[in-house]
Amino acid sequence: MKRLCLVLSLLVATGVAPIAVADAARGKALYAGCVACHGDSGAGNDALQAPALAGLDAVYLARQLHNFKAGIRGTDAADTAGAQMRASAALLADEAAMADVAAYIASLAPVPAAPVAGADLRNGSNHYQASCGACHGGRAEGNAALFSPRLAGQNTAYLKRQYLNFREGLRGAHPDDKYGRQMKVMSAALPAAKDLDDVLGFIAAQGAAE
Ligand code: HEC
Ligand code: HEC
Repeated sequence: MKRLCLVLSLLVATGVAPIAVADAARGKALYAGCVACHGDSGAGNDALQAPALAGLDAVYLARQLHNFKAGIRGTDAADTAGAQMRASAALLADEAAMADVAAYIASLAPVPAAPVAGADLRNGSNHYQASCGACHGGRAEGNAALFSPRLAGQNTAYLKRQYLNFREGLRGAHPDDKYGRQMKVMSAALPAAKDLDDVLGFIAAQGAAE
């Protein structure tokens, strides 16, 4: 609870008003409907293709929930994981419910990702700093001011699928997806599969960077 108050006062201090009024206690109750896939601590579940949510900021979380519910993300016929999440987002009644559950999730501590075997961390670091770090932060900790989520601590298979989803137009192609479209442009930055795998290795090696 202390940590949550800190998060909320930081959001107030940075002028992100809508989340400041979010009801995290109600959000905790709503999160019961998410635990089966995303886990109690928000660490995610690779076998279910469910990403880690712990460590993501409330604004990013609420935007993704809105996008799923509004049909901006997860509608492509090839996006089977996105379709699963769309069904869950549809159960959240309105924007207030999304803000409440996002506020609760944002209070969960980030969990480190498993290391990636065989990655060339030097090559990954070079490509990451050249093409990703300006938005996602030098240690992949995210940058809320640029609407860029934390990547550190996220499940590697999920990150890879999202990167390829952006590249192939399964995510970030909708005209109302302002921030997804920015990321879609960047998904051309690493055309070689080996470079992408090395960048993912670098991200996993950042632990759950604060
Ligand atoms: C049936 C399993 C399932 C349930 C239940 C579920 N999710 Fe998900 N969720 C997923 C999957 C699978 C994805 C990945 C979708 C993709 O690949 O685009 C996902 C993605 C997300 C994302 C996007 C994360 C990111 O990094 O962009 C958010 C946010 C999210 N879920 C929140 C929730 C919340 C909140 C609930 C409860 C109200 C919930 N989920 C319930 C399976 C589930
Ligand atoms: C111009 C800023 C910018 C750059 C540079 C950038 N990104 Fe992003 N990225 C974003 C934004 C903004 C989002 C959130 C999109 C949304 O809201 O759906 C994002 C989302 C993502 C996601 C989805 C995360 C999730 O939880 O679903 C992945 C994966 C990702 N970026 C990887 C990368 C990689 C790898 C690079 C370098 C090759 C990169 N990004 C470079 C802005 C950027």
